[in-house]
Amino acid sequence: MPKHILVTGANGQLGSELQHLTKNNTYETVSFYFTDKEDLDITNVSEVEAFCKEKKIKVIINCAAYTAVDKAEEDKESANLINHLAVKYMSQIAKTQGIQMIHISTDYVFDGSNCRPYIEEDRVNPTSIYGQSKLDGERAMQEICPPNSLIIRTSWVYSAFGNNFVKTMLRLAKQRDELGVIFDQVGTPTYAKNLAQSILDIITKKYNASNVEVYHYSNEGVCSWYDFAKTIFELSQIPCRVNPITTEQYPTPAKRPHYSILNKSKIKREFDLDIPYWKDALKDALGSLEA
Ligand SMILES: NC(=O)c1ccc[n+]([C@@H]2O[C@H](COP(=O)([O-])OP(=O)(O)OC[C@H]3O[C@@H](n4cnc5c(N)ncnc54)[C@H](OP(=O)(O)O)[C@@H]3O)[C@@H](O)[C@H]2O)c1
Repeated sequence: MPKHILVTGANGQLGSELQHLTKNNTYETVSFYFTDKEDLDITNVSEVEAFCKEKKIKVIINCAAYTAVDKAEEDKESANLINHLAVKYMSQIAKTQGIQMIHISTDYVFDGSNCRPYIEEDRVNPTSIYGQSKLDGERAMQEICPPNSLIIRTSWVYSAFGNNFVKTMLRLAKQRDELGVIFDQVGTPTYAKNLAQSILDIITKKYNASNVEVYHYSNEGVCSWYDFAKTIFELSQIPCRVNPITTEQYPTPAKRPHYSILNKSKIKREFDLDIPYWKDALKDALGSLEA
């Protein structure tokens, strides 16, 4: 009997990478239902409930989210509905129907005041509406506690699918000879394909937990957005000059953490994961983008 897995937000970056990786479904014991807003709106509780029941879903990988960080400052209601309330209702459905939930959260639950990589137990203090809505979703899920479920916080996600920093840099480099990019925000990029593969590794392992555990995941290493942009152009052999600028020189509606490096020891240890270095992952991604 195959294990039925629901992937929500499946047309986003992470969801698309999951679709791509399972295209030839070598996971013989599992079958996937990939849905996005048009097929299954996660804010529609009765639809989600009926879908899970009818398809006998055993695992939900929740990739659906409101990810427009700046827009959220003016659209608190939508961010709260999708990132908090929908996660709360989905957790209740999962709990009632005995479904394992794998939910994705963000480094933006932290304020960036750390000076060593964030561990899962570090104090949270979001500085944006988006970060707060994601934290509220985490807390609701932990309180309801669907069986054997987990939250994976990630950072600076990019992919061959959807819009992201890598694609924006490549596009801008076609229009300009030089760019100013922020150097005083440091973190680690995450190639969504690597995270998607790790999620697939996790769901095929036996996992029993009495609480909803939080895990951190990004690629290995550290960089600023400036370093990230420089490396994108170096690897793509694009002669665009990158100038370091400060956060103050590039004001945005949402305040972002200056430091958001995630410590990944827990997820690597518990699931025996091998995580690629960010530059190697970027090289791999640029290959897919150019193909
Ligand atoms: N992107 C990042 O840099 C980043 C960083 C840290 C954490 N994360 C987290 O990582 C996860 C995956 O991010 P991502 O970059 O793959 O996001 P994404 O590309 O924005 O994908 C999210 C998907 O969810 C869909 N969606 C929105 N509202 C929905 C609803 N009500 N019902 C069903 N689907 C809905 C979106 O559709 P529309 O596009 O049509 O709205 C989109 O296809 C999210 O939980 C995000 O918070 C992302």
